[in-house]
Amino acid sequence: MNLTYAVSNQKGGVGKTTLSLNLGASLAQMGRRVIIVDVDPQANATMALGYPQPDELPVTLPHIMAEIINSGGRLDKCELLEKREYILHAQGMDFIPSSIELSSIENILINTMSRENVLKKLIGYIRDDYDYIILDCMPSLNFVTINALNAADRVLIPMQPQFFSAKGLELLLSTIASVKENLNPGLAIEGALMTMFDSRLNFHRETMNIVKTAYGDYFRVFDTKIPVSVRVTESQAQGRSIFDADPKGRIAESYAAFAKELIANG
Ligand SMILES: Nc1ncnc2c1ncn2[C@@H]1O[C@H](COP(=O)(O)OP(=O)(O)O)[C@@H](O)[C@H]1O
Ligand SMILES: [Mg+2]
Repeated sequence: MNLTYAVSNQKGGVGKTTLSLNLGASLAQMGRRVIIVDVDPQANATMALGYPQPDELPVTLPHIMAEIINSGGRLDKCELLEKREYILHAQGMDFIPSSIELSSIENILINTMSRENVLKKLIGYIRDDYDYIILDCMPSLNFVTINALNAADRVLIPMQPQFFSAKGLELLLSTIASVKENLNPGLAIEGALMTMFDSRLNFHRETMNIVKTAYGDYFRVFDTKIPVSVRVTESQAQGRSIFDADPKGRIAESYAAFAKELIANG
């Protein structure tokens, strides 16, 4: 049994990459086999995992996606895919790096037969090797992100209380609903995680309550909240996991609590 999570929110800077990395590292610490797939041409996850120049990597996600597209979806014709050189290792996890070329995949997908299924094919190919597959999505609801939602079992939505936008959330929810309706009937929203939360701030608590009241029927809001800490950015810049850089700190503690809350949910 394995699970694929898409970490998605079309707003940038809300903590998608941080959630993907720290959830992954946390699950890996619990002995689970984890792979992160960097589905963002900005490649922030790839950089934080120790590859500061993603565009110089020989094989990244867009190369594999292009090969699957060019083979007409016939995976037995995909040499790069079979070689698995795109699977890298860091912080106790495997990961598939991204690069800027992922932005040109978007245009290729438009003219591709079965364009929503390219990433799903790749995930199907590797998924038996893992307990958890985490897709770190880009800040856009384009075809590449639709590919991620189509490949996923569950969606995790990180939210920054300071910049919460009901309109933005509605758009995300309606995209998820149409992927579920038209492509991936098993897709479910796992929940929303409040990131960069400052419990001293009234309006952060208010935002959380508004989200719970207005959207409680659609998804749960996790009890665990991730506090603000400069340690997050520091450890990412050093290419270190927060569990390595500051294992007893509040961030490591809160992501570990979040991973437990998530797993307890099944
Ligand atoms: N809990 C936190 N406290 C402080 N800074 C954070 C926290 N979580 C994320 N950040 C920082 O905020 C920025 C955006 O986070 P990131 O995870 O890259 O968002 P996204 O992937 O949604 O664009 C990054 O510089 C990251 O280091
Ligand atoms: Mg990101």
